[in-house]
Amino acid sequence: MEEIEIIKPDDWHVHFRDNSILKAVVPETTRHFARAIVMPNLTPPILNGKQAIEYKERIKKVIPKTHNFMPLMTIYLTESTDKNELKEAYNNKAVFAAKLYPAGATTNSDSGVKDIKNIMPTLEKMAKIGMPLLIHGEVTDNEVDIFDREKVFIDQSLDFICKELPELKITLEHITTKEAVSYVSEGNKNLAASITPHHLSLNRNALLVGGIKPHNYCLPILKREDHKQALVVAAISGDSKFFLGTDTAPHFKEDKESACGCAGVFNATNCMSILAEIFDQNNSIEMLESFTSINGAKHYGCKINHEKIKLKKSNKPLKFKKYLKVGNKEVIIFQPNFPVFWEVF
Ligand code: NCD
Ligand code: ZN
Repeated sequence: MEEIEIIKPDDWHVHFRDNSILKAVVPETTRHFARAIVMPNLTPPILNGKQAIEYKERIKKVIPKTHNFMPLMTIYLTESTDKNELKEAYNNKAVFAAKLYPAGATTNSDSGVKDIKNIMPTLEKMAKIGMPLLIHGEVTDNEVDIFDREKVFIDQSLDFICKELPELKITLEHITTKEAVSYVSEGNKNLAASITPHHLSLNRNALLVGGIKPHNYCLPILKREDHKQALVVAAISGDSKFFLGTDTAPHFKEDKESACGCAGVFNATNCMSILAEIFDQNNSIEMLESFTSINGAKHYGCKINHEKIKLKKSNKPLKFKKYLKVGNKEVIIFQPNFPVFWEVF
């Protein structure tokens, strides 16, 4: 039986939500991950250091006692974010990073940024103090096809930010295209990208063939197979510019299975098993640790975790739990469309 031991992973992009859903989902992440960057797109969003600290306290209350876990908080950038307040929140260690959502790009992003030029003074300040910028990289123009929105964002906005502020530490989050892979790998040293387990597992057929599959609907949307393959090549390459950000995004089943199903895939539960399977299928299980446990920490200038986790390859495909119960509602757990043999123990 094959076994590996790796440094305990970090998740550099997570949605924990709040209230009863928070309580249900946090242990799914804290079981295998040592740290996670927590997204600020609550309703209403986390806009300042005080709200971030309060949210962090609510998260800490629901971390199981046996799990050793550190939530890393973020602020949601708007065109009215006060750059001095932002600096203070960062310097006081109330927050770890700031998140840029183009207005309307995804779930709970209505108060996001309409024109990047309007936040350039804030970004300059962030570059000066070393505060990381996390980007949801999609344009929102109605004329731009949804499958092209990431590529157009890179050409229109990311390239502008990188050229104006080469010192700014940037993560292009949850990348989905070969254009993003090449832009980031050739880009300046402060630019990196996170990749999700679902974008490494599925192409857009998983969304549309044999009926609409709302549980595979997320933003940025799944792309063609050649894009998925480019992401896999980047993830297994060991290139320190690419690391795991699961974008685990819980929504209730009934909200995903509606006439206007919301975007987001809840993948925390089996993430490490699925990633091990993908790396193994690509004869690169030895590269898993860099992707999940080293590259991200390096980009953010964080210490590498001390703890380790073990994964074992079973001779039978694992049987995954289908959903997480939250009160009398359900959150469907992400399942890839291939058998998974690797188990965390
Ligand atoms: C996320 C959510 O549900 O909050 N949804 C998603 O499809 N990824 C928001 C986001 O990160 O885009
Ligand atoms: Zn997200």
